[in-house]
Amino acid sequence: MKKITKAVFPVAGMGSRFLPATKATAKEMLPVVDKPLIQYAVEEAVAAGITDMVFITGRNKRAIEDHFDKAYELEATLEAQGKTELLRIVQEVVPKHINCIYIRQAEPLGLGHAVLCAQPVIQDEPFAVILADDLIDGAVPIVQQMVSVFARHQCSVLGVQDVPRSQTSQYGIVSATNMEPNLARVHGIVEKPRPEVAPSTLAVVGRYILTPRIFHHLAQIRPGAGGEIQLTDGIAALMQEEKLLAYRFEGIRYDCGSKLGYLKAQIAFGLKHEELRAEFAEYLKTVP
Ligand code: G1P
Repeated sequence: MKKITKAVFPVAGMGSRFLPATKATAKEMLPVVDKPLIQYAVEEAVAAGITDMVFITGRNKRAIEDHFDKAYELEATLEAQGKTELLRIVQEVVPKHINCIYIRQAEPLGLGHAVLCAQPVIQDEPFAVILADDLIDGAVPIVQQMVSVFARHQCSVLGVQDVPRSQTSQYGIVSATNMEPNLARVHGIVEKPRPEVAPSTLAVVGRYILTPRIFHHLAQIRPGAGGEIQLTDGIAALMQEEKLLAYRFEGIRYDCGSKLGYLKAQIAFGLKHEELRAEFAEYLKTVP
């Protein structure tokens, strides 16, 4: 029985949809209320028992490394000022047993290429891929739900969700046959099909559990949609050899790669935030 101990976070993207906010910093550092998107993603991995966080970074992404590093001066200052609660928040950004590993993706060759960059660290183990701009709120964190599926089936698992047909061209779309509630066997996957040719409306959102055989395929495939090495194309090749499942996760997804999704996340998480929720709910009632 294999266990998932490593997660890959592709964070090299330019974040052009959020310019100018992302001109000098990473889109994954955009906060939802008081935590950056990438921290929600890492916390989801930690909750699933994952210990090694592999970030595929690029230019302008140093803030991510700094965020998960120890901040000596800040901690010393907070300690001297007796701000123990803030000190705790800063120290708990990464629990002590977690390793953070950074690999640079020198060229923006696509999501598949970014995942391939993680091969020297992942080697021959199954692993998770988490796209931080898909922020998913679940009573049980989504990667944890998917790790449980993996534990039972020992094969690759894609996190999926139904989307309106008009939106298929924003996602990897699967065709699948239901096996049990929430779980289906995938027999086709295609990157960003137009609505009229999409095989279904079941979209892959930013959560994957993959077997290491994916690297073999990612190293072989040619650039696909948008001229990029697509993870979806690697998964399509993997599916020819191995069982592949689509899991309809339980939770609400906020597409924080879009401005509207990001605003919705701010509202939802603001309304859940212990310090803010009462006052924020009152305020929202007054918004015309
Ligand atoms: C990527 C993947 C796509 C997937 C999506 C989920 O696309 O290529 O298959 O459905 O993430 O968010 P991107 O959003 O990077 O264009």
